[in-house]
Amino acid sequence: MDPLPQPDELLHLVELRRDEVATQVLPETFKLWADQRSYEQYAADLAEFAATSYGKRHFSFQGVRDERGAVVSCCKRYAREATWAGRRLRAVGIGAVFTMPSERGRGLASLMLGAFLDRERAEGSDLAYLFSDIHPTFYERLGFIALPSRSFTVRASSLARGRAAVAPMADADIAGVRKCYDAGAARRSLSLVRTPVLWDAVRLRERQAEASPGNRYAQPVRLVVREGRIVRAYVKGWRQPRRDAYVLDEMGALDGHEELLPALLSAAIGDLGKVAGWLPPEPERGSLPRGSVKRRSSTVLMVAPLSRTAQMLWQQHANGLLHAAADAFWSTDHI
Ligand SMILES: CC(C)(COP(=O)(O)OP(=O)(O)OC[C@H]1O[C@@H](n2cnc3c(N)ncnc32)[C@H](O)[C@@H]1OP(=O)(O)O)[C@@H](O)C(=O)NCCC(=O)NCCS
Repeated sequence: MDPLPQPDELLHLVELRRDEVATQVLPETFKLWADQRSYEQYAADLAEFAATSYGKRHFSFQGVRDERGAVVSCCKRYAREATWAGRRLRAVGIGAVFTMPSERGRGLASLMLGAFLDRERAEGSDLAYLFSDIHPTFYERLGFIALPSRSFTVRASSLARGRAAVAPMADADIAGVRKCYDAGAARRSLSLVRTPVLWDAVRLRERQAEASPGNRYAQPVRLVVREGRIVRAYVKGWRQPRRDAYVLDEMGALDGHEELLPALLSAAIGDLGKVAGWLPPEPERGSLPRGSVKRRSSTVLMVAPLSRTAQMLWQQHANGLLHAAADAFWSTDHI
């Protein structure tokens, strides 16, 4: 077989300008990913995200153009940090991989992503990750590996109801919530680091999701347990009466306070019959009863170790990650 041409010889991967994203990319991706928002709202939400402190410095559209300068294939790039076995790594998230409909099936997305990974590797990124909504083989051909990606359901009656004093999460709780998140992340082998600017971007996404017509039948429920001003534990998710479920986004507790989590979940569930969502990572997964766990066929987490450090870590930890009883990331890490 002839060797594949090097992506760089064929395609020039560039950061797309805002105007070309607005005029060429969004009108097309809107048809797939607007989730019932109007075009104006879809574009405004993205612009608002791009204008956050996180977005300005760490988020961009990357893509390739044809000989006339029109964008033919593109994706979003999110610069993140991760820790893996105690090492701090440069991670890069890839989202919204898209080829213009008339250009599909010609290898453009594969070449674009190949060029993307080559450039990331050359510029010192350690690890790439994405959430695949299509058959994972497409990304496996590029060197990505699918990690366990599951959903769970737990009946409300199987959760221990504690006596914790539960309160709605307030803006002033954000620093305490961060500490709870960090306590959980510190106990995972692989985890994404959340900086303060990243938390601001996460909260913007939550506000946008609340306003989205796609969530018309869901109500956000975010609760904490405080002791004085200290947040001991938190839970975030959505009450979905139509599914008779509280859908968990994420939760966390300070070390030694994990027993608060089932009680918090019970409070969040209220009169609903169950809690559901993506299977949480450790250690929080350990706070849930076993429940019923199913493989997710969409939004499958995939990683590609790029640097030598990440490849070495993959050699050492692949087995643990591939057979873990918990998932690696929260649904709120979905990009
Ligand atoms: C997926 C997508 C980016 C591929 O772009 P492309 O430039 O046609 O990709 P390539 O030509 O490099 O590769 C084509 C291969 O993609 C794979 N592919 C495309 N859509 C797929 C899907 N829904 N499931 C699995 N594989 C798929 C196929 O293997 C295809 O090979 P084939 O043409 O021999 O069947 C494009 O189809 C697209 O924009 N789809 C809509 C947006 C989307 O779903 N993005 C992925 C989000 S995770």
